[in-house]
Amino acid sequence: MKRLLAALALLALAACSRPGFNNVDITGASYANEFSLTDHTGARRTLADYRGKLVVIFFGFTQCPDVCPTTLQEMTEVRRALGRDADQVQVLFVTIDPQRDTREVLAQYVPGFDPSFVGLYGTPEETARTAKQFKVFYQKVPGPTETSYTMDHTAGSYVIDKSGQPRLFLKHNQGAAPIVADLRRLL
Ligand code: NI
Repeated sequence: MKRLLAALALLALAACSRPGFNNVDITGASYANEFSLTDHTGARRTLADYRGKLVVIFFGFTQCPDVCPTTLQEMTEVRRALGRDADQVQVLFVTIDPQRDTREVLAQYVPGFDPSFVGLYGTPEETARTAKQFKVFYQKVPGPTETSYTMDHTAGSYVIDKSGQPRLFLKHNQGAAPIVADLRRLL
């Protein structure tokens, strides 16, 4: 029995030393695993609604000059590269600027990148709660006028697997290929 356990331990070690994901493996994380928000069609959504799909969830704002459009563009390339498997990947964009990113604004902006992408928003309180749940930082940076502020925010996306478990944190601006490889491992 002892020998068997030792052999199993070795096997486990061997499994761990396999080349890992290109992105940060957060398997087992107790965060990034739930939300309750409204989508750009007005429907209430929780993470459980997307069970059975790989979810890529990103926090940003539609007036973002660089990080957000780059990330969404990258995800359209990822979906293209996945071909038929793209149907199993759901991209979610959560606004951290609900003051300006209304349902109408999100309905214009988010599916503009890919018709399958879903924009999500909440009240200021729901937004704060969700960001905390996903360990996402955001902060208003005042501009010259009341409405011309910008937002600092965490650049990066989470991948939730088909059973609703958080698995990866995707680094910003790495190109589609490493993401495609990681998503294929989770499909
Ligand atoms: Ni941004």
